[in-house]
Amino acid sequence: MIILGIDTSCDDTCTAIVEDGKRLLSNIVNSQVIVHHRYGGVVPELASREHIRNIVWVVRESLRRAHLNSNDIDAIAVTVGPGLVGALLVGINFAKAFSYANNIPLIGINHLEGHILSIFLEKRCPPFPFVALTVSGGHTNIYQVRDFGDYTVLGQTLDDAAGEAFDKIAKLLELGYPGGPVIEKLAAKGRPEAAGFPRAYLSKDSLDFSFSGLKTAVALYVRKWRLQKGCDDKIKIADIAASFQAAVVDILIDKVIAAAAQVGANSVVLAGGVARNNYLRCNLQEVMAKREIDLYIPSPELCTDNGAMIAVAAYHRIIKGQGDDLTLDARSRFPLDQI
Ligand code: KG4
Ligand code: ZN
Repeated sequence: MIILGIDTSCDDTCTAIVEDGKRLLSNIVNSQVIVHHRYGGVVPELASREHIRNIVWVVRESLRRAHLNSNDIDAIAVTVGPGLVGALLVGINFAKAFSYANNIPLIGINHLEGHILSIFLEKRCPPFPFVALTVSGGHTNIYQVRDFGDYTVLGQTLDDAAGEAFDKIAKLLELGYPGGPVIEKLAAKGRPEAAGFPRAYLSKDSLDFSFSGLKTAVALYVRKWRLQKGCDDKIKIADIAASFQAAVVDILIDKVIAAAAQVGANSVVLAGGVARNNYLRCNLQEVMAKREIDLYIPSPELCTDNGAMIAVAAYHRIIKGQGDDLTLDARSRFPLDQI
């Protein structure tokens, strides 16, 4: 079964073609970074406008790269939420038109389910059950995954998402958008222990996250530093980036270990845009190896938003007989356990 997957939930126009929920035939991500960069974050109206401009050629390009025509597609899958409603609607309406014109099934997919299942595009896949940590610009969640379509939320952020914290600190340091990659690069030249930023663990046994206190601590530190004179700017910014990154990574690692222990999981999946971060990937790998827990992380291009993960999630729903009709609509909020 050949599925065309579309994701327009945020600022990337993503399309991909996947065969049997496994074989990636093409994967295109048209980034809008150049449009949003100067604003230090995503401007929803501009994101919708860019998706409208790009969706048709991006789909054509996916078909071309997969050496297929539209009549080779067996089903079309599209993200319905969570995400920016205006942006989501571009993908959804395109998918409806494509489904109607080609007389093929249409299915709406939860973006977070896509992130979790992106690992199934890799050769090495986790056995069920496993614990999944999804860390992106909009979400930071821990799930127990018992099977395709069977998810229980174990923990979630009470305020900012981890990626959002990276983006906000980058904005504060005037480093541009998106913040994750630029902070990671700077942090490599800094000392993780330099600033000693706080780690919020919340109540005992809590698997929830909070990054707003860390964000405030960094903002206060930066304000104080800017008032001081005679310090070496480049070294100081690298130290701040490294100390901030270490605080986020420590919390993520400690919480996912606690989650695996709570449910007795032997396998952990790390997914979402922040999973591209090498400091997180390496440290988590080291800690999991010591605990004899198998860690699974998608390749970097499958961590950030993509249409392939949407096609994978769709495949496992379609083979169970699920699907949608032309009344399909966007959902800005869409908790995964409410599917
Ligand atoms: O999953 P994603 O592409 O979109 C959402 O669903 O939000 O994640 C984007 C987020 C952004 O906040 C970006 O700063 C972060 O992932 N990110 C990173 C890195 N690369 C992307 N965060 C930390 N380190 C990175 N290398
Ligand atoms: Zn995402």
